[in-house]
Amino acid sequence: MIDNTKNEEFETILDTIDLSKPAPVDEPKRQYYFIKKARGYVKQMSEKAGRPLFSHVTTFGCQMNARDSEKLTGILEQIGYREETEEEKADFVIYNTCTVRENANQRVYGRIGQLKKGKKDNPYMLIGLCGCMMQETEVVEKLKKSYRYIDLIFGTHNIYKFAELIVTRLESQGMVIDIWKDTDKIVEDLPSERKYFFKSGVNIMFGCNNFCSYCIVPYVRGRERSRNPQDIIREIEALVADGVVEIMLLGQNVNSYGKNLKTPMSFAELLQEIEKIEGLKRIRFMTSHPKDLSDELIEVMGKSQKICKHLHLPVQSGSSRILKSMNRGYTKEHYLELVDKIRTAVPDISLTTDIIVGFPTETEEDFQETLDVVRKVRYDSAFTFIYSKRTGTPAASMEKQVADAVVKDRFNRLLQEVQKISGEVCSVHTDTVQEILVEGVNDHDSLLMTGRMSNNQLVHFPGGESLIGKIIDVKLKECKGFYYIGELLKK
Ligand code: 5AD
Ligand code: SF4
Repeated sequence: MIDNTKNEEFETILDTIDLSKPAPVDEPKRQYYFIKKARGYVKQMSEKAGRPLFSHVTTFGCQMNARDSEKLTGILEQIGYREETEEEKADFVIYNTCTVRENANQRVYGRIGQLKKGKKDNPYMLIGLCGCMMQETEVVEKLKKSYRYIDLIFGTHNIYKFAELIVTRLESQGMVIDIWKDTDKIVEDLPSERKYFFKSGVNIMFGCNNFCSYCIVPYVRGRERSRNPQDIIREIEALVADGVVEIMLLGQNVNSYGKNLKTPMSFAELLQEIEKIEGLKRIRFMTSHPKDLSDELIEVMGKSQKICKHLHLPVQSGSSRILKSMNRGYTKEHYLELVDKIRTAVPDISLTTDIIVGFPTETEEDFQETLDVVRKVRYDSAFTFIYSKRTGTPAASMEKQVADAVVKDRFNRLLQEVQKISGEVCSVHTDTVQEILVEGVNDHDSLLMTGRMSNNQLVHFPGGESLIGKIIDVKLKECKGFYYIGELLKK
């Protein structure tokens, strides 16, 4: 990954590119060629407009999308767009979409409808759509028919071609659509613009092979592909050299990292290599699948000085019967044993989870099993979801979809239980001193700074902006449910 802060290096590469020649075939050189070409077009538009042009990337969904958006922003900046925080003021608006649940799709349609007016008022305005939702054929058909003013549509596999697609759009008229069904390609060394200077997501793998029966991700993100460990380490070393102290390793199922590499390597082995990187202070990862969480990984977590004391371990349901129907590959008992093992190896670890209610055929007894897991594990927090039927997944054609009112009632009961336990669990660190990484000024009170503990809990404390990006000691004075109010301690 070429960080946009390393502009000089990148400029030297671009200087060697001759636009009078055809575009190179190999990546990433081909994209460098199109970045340079797009720059020319953006410059022309900006001169015609008599002002700089601005872009805005809107991210829906998960951390993977957030990281992809940094890549989109990196390319937009390289071709000459300035970043604009307000979507309404931007000349290039791109939505990086999510389709994991149906309501995410509805939100996107609503928002693109609103963009139409901006396009009428601003002759330089371009609209792009990318991400998981674009991998669905019906979505693209609908956009082609009813949203003709969209300029660019692409999917999850060819984000790296963003500059090339922009050039294609600017050299033609009308909508450009480029969706790939799948890919085995991973393109390294493209620009990226980090949101935070002190922390960064790092993709370690793409796609998913699990096919949980409710989930659309394997269909829209394709088969599992792991990045080479050398590329991952090189990227993290460069990030650390650039001021990053915390990384979040990203993958749909990080526990199965490395299985498809030429020289297979386990996730635990990768973590041990990353741990050796000097200057790196904190390592997080997301998401772990319980069926692939190995004893080796638990041991590495127990010994590590850098792996944060937080594990997101989606359970989805507490009923072994439902788990089987979900194709999750573990039972309630197996999950609870796993939790015990983790807690023995890392006693003060925070556990969080994802839970779905209302999966087809879920009975009150099944739901009680879910509540039982919640009570036994005592999660720090849980993301709770109402089951959403995704066309094309096996669960969509299952009989006995649960009635809406029943699901709603279970959802509310679950939420209540989760919040009650969370309130109790989260306050256990009151009066202790904890290291936090300071992330920024508090959103609601500018006199307070906000930082994150190793276990991912937030702490607000009086302090100055100069602390941003630093790891400091704070005394936790008071727990306010999900966060603490703290006091800065001098080191
Ligand atoms: N309905 C509801 N929730 C879902 N998730 C994935 N697919 C669905 C669906 N069809 C949830 C799972 C997953 C999280 C990212 O989204 O809990 O862990
Ligand atoms: Fe979806 Fe299951 Fe893959 Fe997670 S592990 S992305 S829930 S199929």
